[in-house]
Amino acid sequence: MKVAVLGATGFTGETLIEILLRHPKVKISYLCAKIDKPQKFSKIFPHFKGRLDLICANPDLEKAAKLAETIFLALPHRVSQSFAPFFVSKGKLVIDLSADYRFKKVKVYEQFYQTKHQDLANLKQAVYGLPEFYKPKIKKAKLIANPGCYPTVSILSLAPLLESGLIKNVIIDAKSGVSGAGRNPDLSYRYEYKDGNCFSYKPFEHQHLPEIVQVLSQISGRKVSLRFTPHVIPAKVGILATIYGDLTKKVSESKVNSLYEKCYKKAPFVRLLKRKLPQLKEVVGTNFCDIGFQIKDKKIVIVGAIDNLIKGAAGQAVQNMNIILGYPETAGLL
Ligand SMILES: NC(=O)c1ccc[n+]([C@@H]2O[C@H](COP(=O)([O-])OP(=O)(O)OC[C@H]3O[C@@H](n4cnc5c(N)ncnc54)[C@H](OP(=O)(O)O)[C@@H]3O)[C@@H](O)[C@H]2O)c1
Repeated sequence: MKVAVLGATGFTGETLIEILLRHPKVKISYLCAKIDKPQKFSKIFPHFKGRLDLICANPDLEKAAKLAETIFLALPHRVSQSFAPFFVSKGKLVIDLSADYRFKKVKVYEQFYQTKHQDLANLKQAVYGLPEFYKPKIKKAKLIANPGCYPTVSILSLAPLLESGLIKNVIIDAKSGVSGAGRNPDLSYRYEYKDGNCFSYKPFEHQHLPEIVQVLSQISGRKVSLRFTPHVIPAKVGILATIYGDLTKKVSESKVNSLYEKCYKKAPFVRLLKRKLPQLKEVVGTNFCDIGFQIKDKKIVIVGAIDNLIKGAAGQAVQNMNIILGYPETAGLL
């Protein structure tokens, strides 16, 4: 299977390439980014020397379609929706890592991303690529809306309890490494600003809040309402979400445990730690989502952790590709 990565020089693009090079069934045949002059990818990222010497240039969609069957869009929102329709019309499998195709209600997308949606036809047919809950739809998809990083860890950590109506008054307090914001050149995104620093941002209007609410409402079949405050921590990668909630009735840890076990019994990338709480060091570099929880009286604290660039982006994108193309779900990811 020949694959193309558009946005190859970004954090998720680089991570995708690392995973795809290890994948037994694929060959990377096209790369591009927004770039001043074409150059060998291994010149931009010397750790790929001898492993991937393709030229990386500005996008040439015709060339990408000619050279590849599966197209990964590791691009900023807005850019993805300007490229995706071309590839869909050519019958390519498109896996988009941006938020452009994640929202069922276009008004919500336009409000939180402050832009008009230009591709409503494909928005309707896009499938939300969270394999743990949407595998049957993913298998038949031609356009995947790969989930956001905070939504992936939040949804996986909360879904079993929300589905069973056992939790209310939910607060997601999530911490992300600096790569979550992409390779942004602004001063406030630079290492010297973030090193030794920690701050919260957008407590009420972060763009991942409506995504979390949309998907959890769909999975649980009830209108979910919750609070979500993201933070940036001085680490390069990883998201740790500490989630607080009240139980709607007294339940034992073993009962909650069996709910999670039942929900994820066929999910190769969810690891249930029971009372032990996850740590970033144990998931960084992997496609796993670790989940642990503790209960006292009718209060519960759930902790979820992922690598934002892998399970929160590139790894999950490859997991979706594997499911659609009939490869083992874990190919290239273990
Ligand atoms: N970072 C995360 O943890 C994460 C997690 C989940 C989803 N996502 C989503 O994944 C997408 C990529 O994120 P990222 O963190 O990898 O961003 P990034 O580091 O900013 O990379 C964006 C990539 O897109 C390229 N690009 C930008 N405009 C372009 C254009 N008009 N034509 C061609 N290439 C263009 C950039 O090229 P230059 O570098 O040359 O400008 C770069 O290669 C975003 O939509 C993001 O929201 C990110």
